[in-house]
Amino acid sequence: MAGPKFMWVIVVGLALGVVCSVPRADARAFFVFGDSLVDNGNNNYLATTARADSPPYGIDYPTHRPTGRFSNGYNIPDLISQSLGAESTLPYLSPELTGQKLLVGANFASAGIGVLNDTGIQFVNIIRITQQMQYFQQYQQRVASLVGTAQAKKLVSQALVLITLGGNDFVNNYFLVPYSARSRQYNLPDYVRYVISEYQKILQRLYDLGARRVLVTGTGPLGCVPAELGMRGSRNGECVPELQKAAALFNPQLIQIINNLNQKIGSNVFVAVNAQEMHNDFISNPQAYGFVTSKIACCGQGPYNGIGLCTAASNLCPNRDLYAFWDPFHPSEKANRLIVRQILSGSTKYMNPMNLSTIMALDSMA
Ligand SMILES: *[C@@H]1O[C@H](CO)[C@@H](O)[C@H](O)[C@H]1NC(C)=O
Ligand SMILES: *[C@@H]1O[C@H](CO)[C@@H](O)[C@H](O)[C@H]1NC(C)=O
Repeated sequence: MAGPKFMWVIVVGLALGVVCSVPRADARAFFVFGDSLVDNGNNNYLATTARADSPPYGIDYPTHRPTGRFSNGYNIPDLISQSLGAESTLPYLSPELTGQKLLVGANFASAGIGVLNDTGIQFVNIIRITQQMQYFQQYQQRVASLVGTAQAKKLVSQALVLITLGGNDFVNNYFLVPYSARSRQYNLPDYVRYVISEYQKILQRLYDLGARRVLVTGTGPLGCVPAELGMRGSRNGECVPELQKAAALFNPQLIQIINNLNQKIGSNVFVAVNAQEMHNDFISNPQAYGFVTSKIACCGQGPYNGIGLCTAASNLCPNRDLYAFWDPFHPSEKANRLIVRQILSGSTKYMNPMNLSTIMALDSMA
């Protein structure tokens, strides 16, 4: 008699499995702003050197081809989309982003940018953050003409937003060259205060544009990435102190402005993602997370595979899952999965004031 019941359970299980793996049409929209850590391919459409559109980028992506993501496979926004039950956001500049696709959301991020306009000037033609937000406005007009103004407003206010900024204001600006313009203008603590005050305006602008759930990532341990270990001649893999100091100043002040903004608004619109803690875990103890190293990039050349770009001529590791860093600056898909796992269900050590599972549960009741 147990037979038919058992079968029924399997059939239901299979049906649920199918439902869960197919993107849901009614999943909440998702918007992404920021730099190369979250760019899904906007820079492919721009005349810039900050691009990831040639092999071996994308080697572990389902198509095994480069997409413009700075990863061997999925990046952090892809994995968040998957946990929302949605398909990946398209780059805003993609010609495919039309019609019903607009309702999924959009990715406005552009590799090389920072909080400040002068960050990443060496990459020439990239989408700076104020331009990303102008595109967000334009996007809302396009959605309004598709589904009406009221529906468009609702889609935006119910959406999840991710913004990842700040790392480049250090590695591609203040610390890019010795005696950089910014480092002659400001000492490090004053520079951090300046960047943070500009970041606060950006977050306020996102709120003014209708965003109501915004994940804001701090910077990772900037001084520990293979690029910095390699370029600054780290002897035994010890992290570069000035860059670590920058991250240590930046992250707590970011949490501070997030708390202030939430208090002013009277709601937890902004959620701080403590990327430094997340990275620290696998940088200090890579083996515990299944990595053979968190010092050496999978793809690159020179010390720590940290010099120059990842190209078809670079060293390439056979198993990307064993490396915390895919290229000299960017985490591997495996590391991205660990980060997104913490975003979803991490404690307040990682997610302040709450994790994404809690957010999703709260918002589904609203
Ligand atoms: C950056 O440029 C935009 C557009 O030109 C401008 O509105 C904004 O004030 C600038 N930001 C800073 C910090 O100078
Ligand atoms: C984070 O998410 C998990 C569920 O996935 C929950 O059990 C846990 O309490 C949450 N932690 C915090 C601090 O919100």
